[in-house]
Amino acid sequence: MDLYCVMGNPVTHSKSPWIHARFAELTGQTLHYGKRHIELDGFAPAIQAFVAEGGLGCNITLPFKFQAAALATDISDRARLAQASNMLTFKDGAILADNTDGVGLVNDIGRGAGIDLSGRRLLLIGAGGASAGVLGPLIRAQPASITVANRSIDKASALVERHAALALLHKTELLAHGLQGLDGTFDVVINATSSSLNGAGVPVSGSTLKAGALAYDMMYGPAAQGFINWAREHSAVARDGLGMLVEQAAEAFLIWRGVRPPAQQVLAELRALMSCQA
Ligand code: ATR
Repeated sequence: MDLYCVMGNPVTHSKSPWIHARFAELTGQTLHYGKRHIELDGFAPAIQAFVAEGGLGCNITLPFKFQAAALATDISDRARLAQASNMLTFKDGAILADNTDGVGLVNDIGRGAGIDLSGRRLLLIGAGGASAGVLGPLIRAQPASITVANRSIDKASALVERHAALALLHKTELLAHGLQGLDGTFDVVINATSSSLNGAGVPVSGSTLKAGALAYDMMYGPAAQGFINWAREHSAVARDGLGMLVEQAAEAFLIWRGVRPPAQQVLAELRALMSCQA
């Protein structure tokens, strides 16, 4: 049996095994996808053990995405730019690191929310690992501009600087900003901060939302609820990150198995399942 898994800490509530099992079922693939809780100082040995068992690939979740990129023998351009990896592929003794988080986000905005990002004004809130994972693919979608707004502006500036050449190539204006005093309104506002996990509110003003804007939180479930409520209060179209989770998994599945699974169908099924469980 072809073996895959997700590794993280915590990993108990990961939806990835269910998503990949459903992809396999719908595309007629035979594989086993499990989940492994990894001790914080045990990532490298866990990878070695999985490879020794014949594992072909794994998804990596928090807090190991940076270690995964550093451990790899080969790294994709997008994972290098993100300095983080959410998927490893094991082949002929090599460890290939890639990152499908950003393309997952872009695909969910396109296919799920029905929005073409080209020519739009984007606001990306946050400049930590979550933002770094998606900024490159957002630029490749060729919006008119992306403003990266962060509490500590030096982190936003560093992220913008690292992506400046890519932005120039795609004719996207890329700006770093603080959380206050943002100019004008935005077509799409993406929350990539962990502020809700700390019990804090949405860290930017509702006046950043253009009428009918898409307000997207990269988290899902209770962690996204505050942002979703805020978006609705300001008449924006609210969307959580469950679709991003399914779309990043679909990209990984495509890379591993050579078949694109029906991600938005699986997303609808997962939402129905989660609302039954709630
Ligand atoms: P992740 O990997 O989830 O992105 P991270 O790298 O620790 O986690 O980044 C967390 C992000 O949320 C950062 O942009 C952080 O802002 P700072 O860089 O200024 O720390 C942001 N963040 C966390 N709590 C916040 C709050 N209460 N208000 C505003 N931004 C917050």
